[in-house]
Amino acid sequence: MAASACVCCHSTEVSPRGPSGWYMEAPVWTDTVPDAGLAMLAGWVDSASFGAFPPEENNGFDRHTTGLPTTDIPRMQAFLESLLRERGVTREEAAALTPFGGPIYTQSIFEPSACAGEEGVRASGEVIWSGLRYGEPAPGTVQRIPAEGAAPALVSGERYYLYVLRDIGVPITRCLFTAP
Ligand code: HEC
Repeated sequence: MAASACVCCHSTEVSPRGPSGWYMEAPVWTDTVPDAGLAMLAGWVDSASFGAFPPEENNGFDRHTTGLPTTDIPRMQAFLESLLRERGVTREEAAALTPFGGPIYTQSIFEPSACAGEEGVRASGEVIWSGLRYGEPAPGTVQRIPAEGAAPALVSGERYYLYVLRDIGVPITRCLFTAP
């Protein structure tokens, strides 16, 4: 547990204003995790939107199967499942829970609809939202895809998704437009 980045918010030692909910230094740390959270740690409730990585992409830790990153999946899962059994939590109950991830999860299942009014991208590349221009990163911004070279030109008549976030959890605009 201490070897994973989860401690940033779940350890009294590294969180300056106290941990979020459960914490590692409790006499029995697993007792501080609510049932739903324990089911997530065991991999009974999906938390893929928090990041689900195979070990080779995650410093040797798997986070595909269990919610708690681990280098020993069967042992970690057996440990957490034994605690769930002790608490009387069943897989059926866990399966009925909403996947973890809050706004990251709800964004992952969001179905966009058509842009309202003029929002979209003009043939000139001007993004009709703020004055940004498609394919031309504004000062202080970066283009990620593709990381190098020009962005592919939008194809006239094709439908695209304009997705603007204030922060990873705070979408401003999410709508579909047809390139002019
Ligand atoms: C950026 C801070 C942060 C990080 C990093 C973080 N968490 Fe949390 N975690 C929170 C907050 C905030 C809560 C909610 C606490 C509350 O509602 O009282 C929470 C709650 C939880 C819960 C309890 C959920 C429930 O049933 O209420 C679990 C389980 C959990 N986190 C697991 C993890 C795991 C596993 C990791 C690492 C993969 C992790 N957390 C990393 C902030 C964080």
